[in-house]
Amino acid sequence: MRTWRGVINEFADRLPVTDTTPVVTLYEGGTPLVPAEQLSTRTGCTVYLKVEGMNPTGSFKDRGMTVAISKAIEDGAKAVICASTGNTSASAAAYAARAGVLCAVLIPQGKVALGKLAQGLVHGAKLLQVDGNFDDCLALASKLSIDYPVALMNSVNPYRIEGQKTAAFEIVGALGDAPDIHCLPVGNAGNITAYWKGYVEDERAGNATHTPRMFGFQASESAPIVRGEVVRQPQTIATAIRIGNPASWTKAVDARDASNGRIDAVTDREILAAYKLLARTEGVFVELASAASVAGLLRSVDAGLIERGQTVVCTVTGHGLKDPDWAVSTAPAPTTIPVDAHAAAASLGLT
Ligand code: F0G
Repeated sequence: MRTWRGVINEFADRLPVTDTTPVVTLYEGGTPLVPAEQLSTRTGCTVYLKVEGMNPTGSFKDRGMTVAISKAIEDGAKAVICASTGNTSASAAAYAARAGVLCAVLIPQGKVALGKLAQGLVHGAKLLQVDGNFDDCLALASKLSIDYPVALMNSVNPYRIEGQKTAAFEIVGALGDAPDIHCLPVGNAGNITAYWKGYVEDERAGNATHTPRMFGFQASESAPIVRGEVVRQPQTIATAIRIGNPASWTKAVDARDASNGRIDAVTDREILAAYKLLARTEGVFVELASAASVAGLLRSVDAGLIERGQTVVCTVTGHGLKDPDWAVSTAPAPTTIPVDAHAAAASLGLT
């Protein structure tokens, strides 16, 4: 049996690495492309979920982090820094721990899901809560990386994009061609940039006959690209994409336009509905931000923007266990019963 070797070793010839690059890996990538039967029935399309929550730290960030950290180590870095809504910091903390370098993290105060905070802490990162939002944290992290000896691990680092493009390679490999439509959440807009780069490279390499239309989705109160202006006070329950001034804004617009795609907004209510639908009908537990891709698919189908019969891939970007508070607070509490079979059966409606 051949075992998966991680993003760098699997795709070395398509990444900016050499034989002497020290590979820092947790064997990320190789995530499942799960057929979504209920969503396919509902939309009349053939829908797949690229389940990125199956990465080692539970999000797609690991694909980019293995390349960014490996290159930083190759360049002699002793410390790395990132701003984060939680997933980037969880990933940076884990890979920095593996590489034996210091990891500094700037997070918006009170707006990071508990699981992600726990990951940063357990991997020994130095966490600073900033009295500001993600955009403030990113500006601060960028400045520190210019003025001090610390390497920036956000997706403005091109190595992050390089690593993350491998998800597109995996999809093309699994389907034998590119899908017609690719749906994903948009926050800082690194991932839509990365997927588009991957699909374009795959078409050029002759691995795919075409590129997909890229459909990106922002939360409606955090939708600067949709509105065409910076959102100073972004709001959404999907804290991972609570971003008002995306660093890769222009590249996301380029991907949208070059692919004849769309960047649209979905409401928190639509995100929550898609989150529940994924968990209850597909058996896939994602975090709220990840459900924006599926919320966007449903909205686009209902609006007649996606025709029946299309092959659609939705990236679900992070694992639901990162933010269990939402699962617990939106479902009924478990019933307490005595140690009694009849009482159990009655509670289950079996009697
Ligand atoms: N989904 C999840 C779960 C995320 O954590 C993020 C971004 C996105 C989608 C959006 O991806 O920024 O490339 O457009 N999280 C970053 C972080 C901002 O700090 O973890 P993007």
